[in-house]
Amino acid sequence: MRALIVDDEANIRKVLRRVLEERPVEVDEAETLQEGIRMIERQDYDAAIVDIRLPDGSGIEALKAIKGVNSSSVVLVVTAFASTETAVEAMKAGAYDYLTKPFNLEEIRVVIRNVFDKIGLQDRVRTLQRYADEYQSIVGKSEAMQRLFSIIEKIAPFDSNVLIVGESGTGKELVAQAIHEKSRRLNHSLVAVNCASLPGELLESELFGYSRGAFTGAYAAKKGLIEEAHRGTLFLDEIGEMPASLQAKLLRFLEEKKIRPLGSGHEVDVDVRIVAATNSLLRERAAAGEFREDLFYRISTFELQLPSLRERRDDIPMLVEHFVKLFARKFDRRIERIDPAFMDAVQQSEFRGNVRELKNIIEREVILAENGVLRWSASEASSSRGAESAPQDLPDAGFSLDAHLSGLERAYLEHALHKTQGNKTKAADLLGLTFREFRYRLAKYKNAGG
Ligand SMILES: Nc1ncnc2c1ncn2[C@@H]1O[C@H](COP(=O)(O)OP(=O)(O)OP(=O)(O)O)[C@@H](O)[C@H]1O
Ligand SMILES: [Mg+2]
Repeated sequence: MRALIVDDEANIRKVLRRVLEERPVEVDEAETLQEGIRMIERQDYDAAIVDIRLPDGSGIEALKAIKGVNSSSVVLVVTAFASTETAVEAMKAGAYDYLTKPFNLEEIRVVIRNVFDKIGLQDRVRTLQRYADEYQSIVGKSEAMQRLFSIIEKIAPFDSNVLIVGESGTGKELVAQAIHEKSRRLNHSLVAVNCASLPGELLESELFGYSRGAFTGAYAAKKGLIEEAHRGTLFLDEIGEMPASLQAKLLRFLEEKKIRPLGSGHEVDVDVRIVAATNSLLRERAAAGEFREDLFYRISTFELQLPSLRERRDDIPMLVEHFVKLFARKFDRRIERIDPAFMDAVQQSEFRGNVRELKNIIEREVILAENGVLRWSASEASSSRGAESAPQDLPDAGFSLDAHLSGLERAYLEHALHKTQGNKTKAADLLGLTFREFRYRLAKYKNAGG
């Protein structure tokens, strides 16, 4: 961290420097406005303390110069006498606070502590924001994705229901989130329910809630997820898997906008927007009578078709860069270069698992990378052949999934140990395992005679 003091009085510079240096800060000094401005043009300062009355001009000029270089620099101004006018002028120009001369040490300490608190907060917010933005941002500049973005922008603000259709891993959940965040419901909840994850009856009680004693085991009333989403968005993932009886009940809710929790005599008004997702051809299934057609039309006011990654290969390089950055930061690894052979290999991949598959490959390769170079490693070639492409690509005989996976597991364990010079705690960390888990897995191979 670096700070600048611009003041013509040596005594004052000395006191300010002493207080600043109570923290790990590099401090530079300037005696005149001109000297200050020269330094500002050469160097980026996190913080600055600037006297307003300088022999060759107004410190406000220095303040403006700093803000021009880095608008998040935190600047204090010093005024000789309490002239409110200059203080106001300084605050308008972006000063964080001001000190009036004469000042005592305690006063300076308090104000400077505030400055550093502010810098710390700014940093934290920036890091989190960058991580959140990158984690949730939908990457793509292909024509198909640009079209998708513009449709999302258009329809998000309205309450119309949206059905998102796309293969697994194409980003349906990300799109649902984007729709919620760009709607006027963003300050309320986005509640996600996976309709395939629970058997019908459980799903019903999760969605609609129940009152105490509604069924054996209902010891207390429970609010349903539909109600939890009140004034927000309800994301019904894999809606094609919803059992027929529940489809009827959902349709009734969509028509009446009221729910009655199981076993309850009362109806509750609920206002939700439905965003649903499916990876099956729901329209065709509805036409064939395999899904309620009336419900289909209710939920698909807009139908968004997400392109598969194969249909937008020109987005691959951008996605690779995006995920490399994301995982390098997450795992605190430095990746300086991507091996061209890696790019060739991903360009050739089938990506039946779409963006998720690409993301997983990069997560692994960021961990495995050596000397800052991201490569298409040997284990990658075998894992994408074995675990992620279509079954018809597999040899008919002599192929054991267990043997394959344990080979891969073992390679990872050994690699992690190698990277950490045999430190098991660090190796476990690297792989996202607890120490016990790591030791257990390692023992399996040791016992198997390796
Ligand atoms: N365009 C994209 N840009 C950046 N990340 C993406 C993109 N599309 C998908 N992802 C990432 O890929 C992963 C899979 O995306 P998501 O969960 O949204 O897919 P899905 O369509 O819901 O898949 P499934 O049908 O299997 O549930 C997520 O980690 C998501 O962040
Ligand atoms: Mg999903």
